[in-house]
Amino acid sequence: MASEVERRVAEAADLVTVALDELLPRADGPEARLTEAMRYAALGPGKRMRPYFVIETGRMFEVEERPLLRAACALECVHAYSLIHDDLPSMDDDDLRHGRPTVHKAYDEATAILAGDALQAAAFEILAHPDTHPDPAVRSELVLRLATASGAKGMCGGQMIDLLGVRDDLGAVARMQRMKTGALIACAFELPLAMAHSADTRRQPLMAFAQDLGLAYQIVDDLLDAEGDPDVMGKRAGKDAARGKANYVTLLGAGAARERLNLLIEQTKSHLDAFGPPADFLRASVDYVLQRRN
Ligand code: IPE
Ligand code: IPE
Ligand code: MG
Ligand code: MG
Ligand code: MG
Repeated sequence: MASEVERRVAEAADLVTVALDELLPRADGPEARLTEAMRYAALGPGKRMRPYFVIETGRMFEVEERPLLRAACALECVHAYSLIHDDLPSMDDDDLRHGRPTVHKAYDEATAILAGDALQAAAFEILAHPDTHPDPAVRSELVLRLATASGAKGMCGGQMIDLLGVRDDLGAVARMQRMKTGALIACAFELPLAMAHSADTRRQPLMAFAQDLGLAYQIVDDLLDAEGDPDVMGKRAGKDAARGKANYVTLLGAGAARERLNLLIEQTKSHLDAFGPPADFLRASVDYVLQRRN
């Protein structure tokens, strides 16, 4: 199953990279610098886990492939924008991402800010386009879900708390992680649910699964920062402790953080019990995601 998940992740990554290449703007005038920076960030070698979850969940709910792929691209655009801004000198001040210079290093800071802004706009342009779904009410719900996950109550709000620093309170750290990372991961499940018109009983357990997965995803990222191999990760390690960031690892130590993560993983998977065999790939994906080394 593990290698089958790997194959499906790679397939989703290829599909979404080709689709993003088609969807992202190109320009001939001087603004080409902006569209090149957008492409540099969004088409780079990310893992594309959020698109994978969109596609896998959509297939489980029998959503058509083309709209699914567009939603996956929109979410990846917001993710790429969040990383460009996260790496800025005024935020985490990182110079390496995906094994290459960060956008503000490869271009400059103003271009990086604009590339993030324009990727965010591109995400909503993609979702609002009639090709994404024939029903305007569904398109509007997709926009609402992604906006909510990205904004002050989601990713941006979590990034604010991260930058302010939360101290010695695991509850506050968990809330910050759920906002800065969990919200966009959860959105990967909300978008296909919206396209499947699935207001049914499957929504609640799937969202509980998504939210725990999002928290676990960030704890793995924090463990990798403490223990991972920078060459494999394509980004620098040891920066969270150096920067005084509060997370499970810096507060509890790597061993205790891993124990909590293992408990969280079991809880995450248990939310899928109601789904039976159709959720086998999501179950296996949890292990795949959490055993990642990059
Ligand atoms: C990195 O996310 C930042 C977090 C929110 C943990 P990913 O690990 O999913 O980023 P990619 O795969 O490099 O794009
Ligand atoms: C980033 O978290 C979360 C975002 C919303 C972008 P990190 O700051 O830990 O991500 P990395 O380690 O730089 O990828
Ligand atoms: Mg950060
Ligand atoms: Mg960072
Ligand atoms: Mg990190």
